[in-house]
Amino acid sequence: MQKLIINGPTFLSGEIEVEGAKNAALPILTASILAEGQVVIKNIPDIADVRYTLEILQYLGCKTRFENNTAYIDPTSIDKYTIPPQYAKMMRSSILFLGAILSKFKRVQLTNHPGGCEIGQRPIDLHISAFRQLGIEVFEYDNTIECRCDVVKGGEIFLPIPSVGATENIILASIFCNGEVIIRNAAKEPEIANLCHFLNKLGARIKGASTHTIKIEGVKRLKSEFDQHTVIPDRIVAGTYLCAVATCGGEVLLKRVLPRHLDSILHILKNAGCVIKEQKDTIYIKKEGRLRGNQRITTHYYPGFPTDLQAPVCSVFSVADGVTIIKETIFENRFKHVPELNKMGAQIHVEKDIAIINGVNKLKGSQVVAQDLRGGAALLIAGLCAVGRTEIIGAHHIDRGYEEIEKKYSVLGAKVTRGE
Ligand code: UD1
Repeated sequence: MQKLIINGPTFLSGEIEVEGAKNAALPILTASILAEGQVVIKNIPDIADVRYTLEILQYLGCKTRFENNTAYIDPTSIDKYTIPPQYAKMMRSSILFLGAILSKFKRVQLTNHPGGCEIGQRPIDLHISAFRQLGIEVFEYDNTIECRCDVVKGGEIFLPIPSVGATENIILASIFCNGEVIIRNAAKEPEIANLCHFLNKLGARIKGASTHTIKIEGVKRLKSEFDQHTVIPDRIVAGTYLCAVATCGGEVLLKRVLPRHLDSILHILKNAGCVIKEQKDTIYIKKEGRLRGNQRITTHYYPGFPTDLQAPVCSVFSVADGVTIIKETIFENRFKHVPELNKMGAQIHVEKDIAIINGVNKLKGSQVVAQDLRGGAALLIAGLCAVGRTEIIGAHHIDRGYEEIEKKYSVLGAKVTRGE
């Protein structure tokens, strides 16, 4: 199993460009099967989940090429509507192939429940119930989900939770609907707007992305001509850099970033004492001395504080002055990084969905285990700030969502290498 080896403590300094967003790239690549010809998608991060998605596309019969963060997908030779278990299990976003393949072939089979980080139960009941409301027949047997429908009927879907995945799957399934599908209490995450923008370029008619009411007017077919599409910058990767500087100290300029997508974390870090200056597509952060804790932070749907930054923020406040309380409201098992941070000398106590962080003066290098993607990023941050050598076992979790993480942090002065 691969590990990351870090020698700390480190100040971070320099400039770095933020890669494209995983959570936009994955649905956009999935949606590319609907195109009438080759599509060119730029700013795709070179991460494990993107490679898995490209493998699925190839399996389905698409021609794919991936070079210099640009993906070229030609779906015109696609001839399969079944996702075998080994692919379904690779990541959570395999569930989005349900909506996309259904729109393409009126039939789809996912022969295993979707995989992904084990951060909670992650049911798919909202996806299935919405599909049924749209007149789609859904059969569940032997861990397989099969959907069939000649014509998706228009109508209104109210989502009891603004689920990102369910919103995306309904959009994908409704592209050719009869009339109009309206999603109420839709998720507002910027990655969904980026997906809708891509689909509209293909010829779909989607309005209201970035609001809680999304309307999909069914079209008969998509356009044959398509220029290209660019994936938005990854706000979670950007937020992870910000947390790393806030934990270790230093001065960094993030380039190719959209500050408005990061309002919640910028607010938290400014309150704690970081100097932050934003411009149109850059963020400068400087941290000197010790940060102030004593904050109460709660994860929320966008534009609230994202659950994906909860773990990195635990690392920030593990060395801040005072007690900080973090409440996790989205996933029920998302504090697996806490015992590992405590091995490094942090003092964090978890009670159900709340982490109580008693800031310590310093962390010590240790051997720790990454159990999920963002928890792994939190351990990297802690390792950068800790005195001595830290080994993070399970680097593959981190590789699912961060492009060449050891190289990127080395550019900022960190001493991070990869080993077996
Ligand atoms: C997406 C993101 C993930 C992020 C999460 C929340 C991708 C590929 N992943 O995951 O990084 O952490 O949004 O911002 O974009 N739920 C149900 N039933 C369902 C669907 C969801 O109860 O059918 C619940 C989930 O258990 C969770 C909440 O709704 O408690 C939000 O989940 P959702 O927004 O669907 O997350 P994902 O799309 O899986």
